[in-house]
Amino acid sequence: MAYVIGVDCGTSGTKTVLFDELGTVIASQTIEYPMYQPKNGYAEQSPEDWADAMINTIKAVLSKSGVKSDDVIGVGISGQMHGLVMLDKDGRPLRKSIIWCDQRTEAEVEQMNKIVGRKRLIEITANPALTGWTAAKILWVRNNEPEVYEKCRHILLPKDYLRYILTGEFATEVSDASGMQLLDVPNRCFSKEICDALHIDMSLLAKVYESCEVTGRVTAKAAELTGLKEGTIVVGGAGDNAAAAIGTGVASDGKAFTTIGTSGVVFAHTSDIAIDPKGRVHTCCAAVPGAWHVMGVTQGAGLSLKWFRDNFCAAEKETAKYMGVDEYYLMDKEAETVPIGAERLLYLPYLMGERTPHLDPNARGMFFGLSAMHTKKHMLRAVLEGVSYSLRDCVEVFREMDINVSDMMACGGGGSSPLWRSMLADLYNCPVKTAASKEGPALGAALLALTGAGVYSSVPEACAAVVKTDKIQQPNEAAVPVYEDYYRLYRDIYPAVKEHCARLARL
Ligand code: XUL
Repeated sequence: MAYVIGVDCGTSGTKTVLFDELGTVIASQTIEYPMYQPKNGYAEQSPEDWADAMINTIKAVLSKSGVKSDDVIGVGISGQMHGLVMLDKDGRPLRKSIIWCDQRTEAEVEQMNKIVGRKRLIEITANPALTGWTAAKILWVRNNEPEVYEKCRHILLPKDYLRYILTGEFATEVSDASGMQLLDVPNRCFSKEICDALHIDMSLLAKVYESCEVTGRVTAKAAELTGLKEGTIVVGGAGDNAAAAIGTGVASDGKAFTTIGTSGVVFAHTSDIAIDPKGRVHTCCAAVPGAWHVMGVTQGAGLSLKWFRDNFCAAEKETAKYMGVDEYYLMDKEAETVPIGAERLLYLPYLMGERTPHLDPNARGMFFGLSAMHTKKHMLRAVLEGVSYSLRDCVEVFREMDINVSDMMACGGGGSSPLWRSMLADLYNCPVKTAASKEGPALGAALLALTGAGVYSSVPEACAAVVKTDKIQQPNEAAVPVYEDYYRLYRDIYPAVKEHCARLARL
């Protein structure tokens, strides 16, 4: 039996999973690390933390499983998108990575719109200039830390830095590179026109591959650090969402998924490129060669619940430890005791600004309707519902674009919560399925490695062979109209406070 490793460099931690060639999980290990927020709206992580986590989790899955490194035929890496990693001439990180949910680049987005023009940016990169995407961050470093920019010789995305640690290669692949805003998305290569206009030297950028192509091999040094065999292939892998698509079998038209990780994403595969002229959802190259995807992103999905847990749920954490259950399981149980609408309490999950549909880095979160009768459990339910309303916003844009989202899977940490899944089914008013494997991005990365290693002849073939559907959550007819009323109200709150959010940001 052959084995593969999928590494997923997430925001809360890096998860490495060792699978056999049929996609069965043999061993899994996660290591967490911090996110630094030196200012309101800033978000950074340390590339060295990611590298340590990858090395130690690979070592752990090999030693836990007893699988010999000779039998591991490939590695696939998936990761949080858009993060900026800048390396010096010796391949050392020059500063912390400015990650996807950082919102400091409003001025650089304006600069890009002025230089390239919004229309041309959309034509080439398939997306409007976005504060969280890599190009604006590159300009921010150049504008604010010229001494760092001066020393920069390589620009990589988070997972591509891990590839560099494993293989010594400066490489990326189309799905993640789409989120840099420097890629010609229809033609799947970096755009000379955009790079020239922004004065970004193309020699700083990595070589672009398709996601299932071999991009390099594990070096002797990385073999010693991880326990992998020198020469093991490392394929392109994919941005976490494109990888989750492969891991949930979303590799053909009509298929879609919702993931609730730190961010929340509604994602649909499309074999023809589809672009929202208003730029509310992103269009990127898919991890399936020759295909694309559209995705709506809510910045603070699992992040909202984690924020609530860390600040208000010390008692639940204690009880969970005592009972030997997951903290989020207990929090779900509490939220289930509160009726739909949390007795007239709404939550807007804009803790880190918002992308779909508002594209507003200054948007901020809020509870609306707090009354003295509300308790922590009402707030908890409101958080779960607010995130679900923001995901429904993404589906609304897809429906406007005529993108079919009737075959919907759920994944990510939040997708494993039956309560959250039932909210999605009721709010989308369509069945929400789960994949039998809960390993979304790591499995997707592993399937790309199996394809690159030649075990499967194409990415869709790998999905068909491995990904199986599990539970199906049907919408509850009685709940649908109740949620609908709350959702309509939710939609009206942000426009009413938009200007106040901007004023708050200026204080
Ligand atoms: C997608 C996005 C997030 C990150 C972090 O555009 O920013 O989903 O990939 O998971």
